[in-house]
Amino acid sequence: MDQILILDFGSQTTQLIGRRVRDLGVYTEIIPGDTPVDSALTKNVKGIILSGSPESVYDTGAVPDKKIYDCGLPLLGICYGLQRMTHDLGGKVEPLPKKEYGRIDVKISPDTASGYTAEFLKGFRSSFTAWMSHGDTLTKLAPGFKEYGSSATGYPAVVAHEKNPWFGLQFHPEVTHCEGGDGILGAFVFGVCGCNKGWSMEHYVEELGQSLKARAGDNPVLLLISGGVDSTVAGAALLKTLKSEQVHLMYMDTGLMRKNETAAVRSSLEKLGAKNLHIIMCENEFLSALKGKEEPEEKRRIIGDLFITVQEREVARLKLPESYFLAQGTLYTDLIESGKGVGKKAHVIKSHHNVASPLVDAKRKAGKIIEPLDRLYKDEVRELGRYLGVDEEIVRRHPFPGPGLAVRILGGITREKCDILREADAIFIEELKNRKGPSGKSLYDEIWQAFAILLPIRSVGVAGDVRKYGWVLALRAIISADGMTADVYPFETRDILEISTRITNSVKEIGRVTYDISSKPPATIEWE
Ligand code: XMP
Repeated sequence: MDQILILDFGSQTTQLIGRRVRDLGVYTEIIPGDTPVDSALTKNVKGIILSGSPESVYDTGAVPDKKIYDCGLPLLGICYGLQRMTHDLGGKVEPLPKKEYGRIDVKISPDTASGYTAEFLKGFRSSFTAWMSHGDTLTKLAPGFKEYGSSATGYPAVVAHEKNPWFGLQFHPEVTHCEGGDGILGAFVFGVCGCNKGWSMEHYVEELGQSLKARAGDNPVLLLISGGVDSTVAGAALLKTLKSEQVHLMYMDTGLMRKNETAAVRSSLEKLGAKNLHIIMCENEFLSALKGKEEPEEKRRIIGDLFITVQEREVARLKLPESYFLAQGTLYTDLIESGKGVGKKAHVIKSHHNVASPLVDAKRKAGKIIEPLDRLYKDEVRELGRYLGVDEEIVRRHPFPGPGLAVRILGGITREKCDILREADAIFIEELKNRKGPSGKSLYDEIWQAFAILLPIRSVGVAGDVRKYGWVLALRAIISADGMTADVYPFETRDILEISTRITNSVKEIGRVTYDISSKPPATIEWE
C-alpha cells in the first residue's frame, strides 16, 4: 500500500496532515522528525511531508536526517518544514518583526511552472485565504527554489524547486480554515507522488487481526474501557479479531460518568459478544479522594492516580497469568496532545491521564501493550466502529474526557453536583438529538461535541414568587474535525432559548444558563 511519511517536528497540527491525507485514501505514518531514514523505513513511501513546529530552525527545532534530500522522494515542507528545508539547503530564515497568526490571503503565480511544479500548482486556487502561524520567514530562498505564491503581507507562501519535486508552504493546508487545503495536499499526494488509494477500514481490520493474533497468541488481553466511543470500538476490534474468551474488558464507574452510562456500556459490550466483562463500582473512592480539591490539574492527577490504584487492585484480583496483554483505546490524538507520542516536541497542553500509568509502563516495557486504535483519528474510529457493527448510538456519541464530569464541575466536586450536572447534561443532549439542524441531520449529529459545565457560582433568580439562588450552568457545543481546533456551534436563537428554559424548568438547582462562545484556540474544549 502506498504511503506518505510525515516527519513530525512537534506542531499541534501534524496529525491533521496525516488525517487529511488519509481522508484522501492514502495511508500516512507520522514519525519523529529526526528519525534516521533508511530503505526499510521508506519501503512503500511515495513522498515525505515535513511538519510545522513550535520551535525555530535557529533554536532547538529538530533536524531531519539529511538523507531525505538524497533519497529521491518528493518532499513537501509545511511552515517550519519549509523553513527547515530552506535552512538545510542553503537559504535564509529570519524572525518576522511580528508573528503572523490567523487567516492570511495568498496569491499564486503559476505562469512559469512546468513538470512536477505545474502538477502541484494545479491543486491551488489562484487566490485563497490560508491559515498561518509563524514567527520566522524565508528571507532568501535556497538555491534552485522559486517562489510561486506570496502572502498579502509580502512573504513567500509557496515555493518549489526547479528540478527536484520539492515544495514548501508557509501556511497550513491541513487546517479547515485554509481554503482548498485538501486540493493542495491532493495535488502533492496524487499529482506529484503518484499515490494510489489503498487505505480503508477493511484493510485496517485485516492487518490488525494479523498483528494481534501474531502478538497475543492465546494469551488473555485485558482492555480498560472508559465508556466512550474509543474504548468501545477498541473492545469491538479485539472481540472481532481475537477469541472472545481471551478478551477481558474492565470498566470503572467512578461516579463521574454521564447519565445511564454504565448500563449503556454493559449492554453494548454484551451485544458485541463480550464474555468477560468486569464492571467495577468505585464512586465512593473517587468522590472521597476529590473532596475539597479545586485545582484542575490536581483533580486530574488525583483521578489519574486513583485510576491506577483501583486498576492495579482489580487487575490483580482477576489473577490473569503474567503473560497477559494490556489493551487501551488510545488514539493518535491522545498520544500527540500529551507530548508523549510521535510528537516528542509537542508542548503539553493538558495531562491526559489515560496515556501512562505504572501498569501501562510495565506492560509497555515487557512489550505487552496493545493499542488497536493508536494509528487512528477520531472519525476513523467511528468508521471502524460502524464497520465492526458497533451500535450507531455509540458510534456517533460525542467524545467524553477520561476524567469525566470532574473537569466539567469547576472547583470542588460533590455527589450532589455530579447529579445536577448529569441531569442537565442529559436534557441538553436529548434536546440536541430531537432537534433538526440546517443540514436536515439532528443538531447532535451536526455538532462535534456538546456538554454542560457546572460553574462554581450561584446567581439570584425567581421561581414562582420565590427568590431562588441557583447554580449557573454553561452549555458548550462545538464543531471540529478532531478536537485540535474548534468553532462554536451557531445555534438558532430559538433552539438555545428553548433548551435553556427546559433545563431551568427541570433541574431546580440551576438558576441560570449561559452559552460558551469561545473557539479553540484560544480556549480549550473542556473548561478544565
Ligand atoms: P481540550 O479540552 O484539550 O479537549 O480542547 C480536546 C478533546 O479531548 C477531550 N479531553 C480528554 N480526553 N482524557 C481524555 O480521554 C482527558 O484527560 C481529556 N481532556 C480533554 C475533550 O473532551 C475533547 O474532546
